Amino acid sequence: MLQSGIAAIVWRGRITQLTRIADLLGIMGVRETSSDTVKFLAISGSLRAASHNSALLRAMARLAPDGASVTLYRGLGDLPLFNPDIEASDPAAVADLRSRIVAADALLIASPEYAHGITGAMKNALDWMVGCEAFVLKPVALLNASPRAVHAQASLREIVTMMSAQIVEPASVTVPILGSHLSEDQIVLHPEIAATLRGALLALRAAVLAARSQPE
Ligand SMILES: Cc1cc2nc3c(=O)[nH]c(=O)nc-3n(C[C@H](O)[C@H](O)[C@H](O)COP(=O)(O)O)c2cc1C
Repeated sequence: MLQSGIAAIVWRGRITQLTRIADLLGIMGVRETSSDTVKFLAISGSLRAASHNSALLRAMARLAPDGASVTLYRGLGDLPLFNPDIEASDPAAVADLRSRIVAADALLIASPEYAHGITGAMKNALDWMVGCEAFVLKPVALLNASPRAVHAQASLREIVTMMSAQIVEPASVTVPILGSHLSEDQIVLHPEIAATLRGALLALRAAVLAARSQPE
């Protein structure tokens, strides 16, 4: 009870923080028009059908605010194991992932923690993207469905930073889905978690629009 009370306060604080950041961007002259739609690609590091991280990302797709759309990447399990010897042959599944990332304005990434690291499937996908420029300056939100997954989050942060992506901190949130076993529908209907996720999407959208308004 106490823990959920503290979590609620943390959530409310974060939402306020996110709203302030969105306001600040407005003050900084980031004007919005009806054509300012942003496309997010969501990548879950879990191959499990009942994955909490995938449910979190599917819920975010349903919670997307006006002016933002979230598409789930479903090809993680189709990627061959990374091998520099076959990199030049550009396997079709790799080319597909790369083109989806390039076409997206920003990425939502959520990986479970396996043995204090990210999943092999997620690391494999990232390894394939190291040699191209798909991640360079790409705004990225790091999500997680488990507050316990601190090592995976730290590792993910290190890897995408090394790949020159831009982590959008106000959009990077961890929500306790794993412990509460919330389904996708329950996440969407959960007042605090849904508000946190919507706030993260708004912050990510604001970051994309702010980057667009910067002179080349
Ligand atoms: C092989 C394996 C290793 C795991 N190692 C960790 C770990 O080091 N730390 C942790 O917090 N959870 C660990 N877990 C628990 C998973 O992170 C947890 O089951 C999570 O829900 C999986 O994410 P998903 O529901 O999106 O598939 C491990 C699970 C598996 C299957």
